[in-house]
Amino acid sequence: MASAYGARVRAVLWIALVAGLVFVGLQFVRPTLTNPPVTAELQAPPEVRAVLRQSCYNCHSNETKLPWFDQVVPAYWLVNKDVKEARAHLNFSEIGKLPAAQQRGALFEAVNMIQMGAMPLPSYLRVHPGAAVSAENLKVLRDYLMPPTPAGATPAADTSAADAQYKGWITASGAPLKVQAEFNGVEFLPDYKNWKAISSTDRPDNHTMREILGNDVAIKAIAEHHINPWPDGTAFAKVAWAQQPDGKGAVQTGAFIQVELMIRDSRKYASTKGWGWGRWRGMDLKPYGKNADFTNECIGCHEPVRQNDYVYTMPLGGQQ
Ligand code: HEC
Ligand code: HEC
Repeated sequence: MASAYGARVRAVLWIALVAGLVFVGLQFVRPTLTNPPVTAELQAPPEVRAVLRQSCYNCHSNETKLPWFDQVVPAYWLVNKDVKEARAHLNFSEIGKLPAAQQRGALFEAVNMIQMGAMPLPSYLRVHPGAAVSAENLKVLRDYLMPPTPAGATPAADTSAADAQYKGWITASGAPLKVQAEFNGVEFLPDYKNWKAISSTDRPDNHTMREILGNDVAIKAIAEHHINPWPDGTAFAKVAWAQQPDGKGAVQTGAFIQVELMIRDSRKYASTKGWGWGRWRGMDLKPYGKNADFTNECIGCHEPVRQNDYVYTMPLGGQQ
């Protein structure tokens, strides 16, 4: 009895020893991860860079610093892959060579991804809680991209301008404006003006204001937390106007630029990620596409939020 027990203990010890040796041996199987020189760091104020440095640089720069527990295989393999992929998508050590507007654009997208909870990668955050972007740090980024509106400015401006816009469309000639379908067959939905606002954003870098609206199906899905995937019938509109500073520091809504729609139908639009995409420009709402290929432009730019069913906007209160 005792010897059978002893044999079992010996077997377990052997297995542990072999496993230990394999573990140690695997530490030498290391794809190289080097830090190439920082050639053109993002041009931004130091406090902005500091935030990114704390939360993003370990993956999105040539200044990766791995803590010891990331140096241990297999964690090392995972981090290595993330870093290489992250650098290929966005590298804060090299982005400084792009025109200033493009750098801001990239930062704008980055802030969107943070707000949505897509970045830093949630899997990474679980192990590196210190990389989380705090509310104060997020504010630093937002204030840089969108300086706070001066006191006294009326955010109502955009709704009133939108109302005027819409009245113009529906009553100009007594008959509703006839709008052509997009080249991919997606129909314009004039009813979008009655949808609910989910968020609105300013982009001082290109002087536009936009509003994101969702239809009833979208609003219900938000309330019920069924937003990934979004149910069939969901529709979003993104409306953009030019910004017109009034000279006293406030910003008024200027000319209507365009409205974009995303309409969910997982079967009908299976070939375009389950969404119908359309953009109508100018007061006469001309379809934007020259042919159906424009859809690739939309999808390409919404690709980074594919885990969010291709939707950028994080509905307020819609996610935990
Ligand atoms: C653990 C590594 C890691 C960290 C930390 C990280 N990211 Fe990422 N990021 C990635 C990977 C990997 C991708 C590639 C796309 C994907 O897999 O979703 C990516 C993609 C992106 C993209 C899309 C870029 C494009 O053009 O497609 C943006 C923007 C982004 N990250 C911003 C950030 C920001 C901002 C932070 C810091 C708050 C951050 N990331 C932190 C790994 C990381
Ligand atoms: C240059 C990148 C880019 C391109 C190209 C693009 N989008 Fe977007 N889109 C965004 C971003 C970023 C948002 C998030 C809202 C914001 O901040 O403007 C967004 C938001 C939207 C929304 C609101 C729902 C959501 O995802 O938040 C709709 C609808 C939309 N886009 C439709 C389109 C259509 C249709 C096209 C193609 C004609 C298109 N987009 C092309 C970047 C892009």
